[in-house]
Amino acid sequence: MNKVKGTYDVLPNESKMWQALEKKIAQLMERYNYKEIRTPMMEYSEVFHRQSEGSDMVTKETYDFLDRSDRKLTLKPEGTAGVIRSFVENKLYVGNDVVKLYYIQPNFRYERPQKGRYRQFMQFGVEAIGIRSPLLDAEVVSIAYNFIKILGLKGAKIKINTLGDKTSRTNYLEALKAYFEPHREVLSYDSKVRLDKNPLRILDSKDENDIKLVKDAPTPLEYLTDDAKNYFDDVLKYLDSANIDYEISPRLVRGLDYYSHVVFEVEADIEGFGAQNVLGGGGRYESLVEELGGPSLGGIGIAFGLERILLALEAEHINLASEDAIDAYFIVFDEAHKKHAFSYAEMLRANDISVEFDFKKTSFKNQLKRALKLNAKYLLILGEDEINQGTITVKNTVTETQESIKQNDLLTYLKEKLGE
Ligand code: HAM
Repeated sequence: MNKVKGTYDVLPNESKMWQALEKKIAQLMERYNYKEIRTPMMEYSEVFHRQSEGSDMVTKETYDFLDRSDRKLTLKPEGTAGVIRSFVENKLYVGNDVVKLYYIQPNFRYERPQKGRYRQFMQFGVEAIGIRSPLLDAEVVSIAYNFIKILGLKGAKIKINTLGDKTSRTNYLEALKAYFEPHREVLSYDSKVRLDKNPLRILDSKDENDIKLVKDAPTPLEYLTDDAKNYFDDVLKYLDSANIDYEISPRLVRGLDYYSHVVFEVEADIEGFGAQNVLGGGGRYESLVEELGGPSLGGIGIAFGLERILLALEAEHINLASEDAIDAYFIVFDEAHKKHAFSYAEMLRANDISVEFDFKKTSFKNQLKRALKLNAKYLLILGEDEINQGTITVKNTVTETQESIKQNDLLTYLKEKLGE
């Protein structure tokens, strides 16, 4: 049997990287005071398939199905809508000006799989919902900036743009329509449809001809109202004051339809990285909370694709997970002594020391071989003499020095040595 197309297994030798990455995320989130939220893998379809949603991702790529009672359900293709559904349903806004949340979760999109693009993939995302403030927007950009920084990635940059408020957006959409209309015939099939439904999407097209046309298309920056311009300027001022690097990218629009004002992406800039070089993307959304039945509140967020982050780390030869190692390995010469090893292991493990031993009956040589393969720091040797004398021979596998320790002193001895 094979795995489902577009999915992957995290094998034991890879899970350490994932754990290390998740730990970094949790530490980062603590610094910014964001709390974790976990929402279900599936939602009622209308959470994603809303009237206003016309993005390719939502119309073409979701895993939709009927459950056994004919309810329409969707595996979540992204994190934001589910989080907002939960925010509204649980009235998290009551008594809070701003609610700062984060998640690490799987998403599902029926896309053509390739390196960095999967049908099940993991996102680390944040959503800051409530108050509408350039400071909050700057904070979320700062999270993206520092996430990359704490990972040690050098080849990544933040691209930022604004779509402005409703008026700016309406004016801009009209200008875009007027620009593309005379070229309707040369547009790709998808972009012809987009021209009628949502011309903003054309800017995201991967079609070669479309890309040529997009080069001269008007940008949202030319159609901003004064309010929207000031808002964007304020966000940038905050970023400048904290020396957060970014690049203004005037035709950046993003693949989802719920954005207004600030949109931004983190792009990998690593040689030979491949086509899927957008590590993360996000922006401000002003109507999502209301559309999902909540009060009139906006939010801003970003999500990173964690497989792409791991690929970027690999490309830059960064290993977040320290070498796999265990603290101690019991070596016994007689099967009857295994019960001693087991009871010591119980005591050591209860004190946070990692311990292994051999489960099958095997020679000293084989036990030693496995201990070294597992990178054991200490060998704990229990032979006839040791048992009779109430001692354990403890051997450091790096320095190859060994000492005879009284069994009662084993814990104190190891704790001290491992703490050095
Ligand atoms: P998105 O741009 O659709 O935004 O996805 C964010 C990131 O998820 C992408 O930049 C990419 O790294 C990763 N990603 C997307 N699709 C795949 C895939 N098929 N395979 C691997 N990685 C993928 C969102 O999802 C928004 N919810 C972000 C957001 C949060 N906006 C506001 N708050």
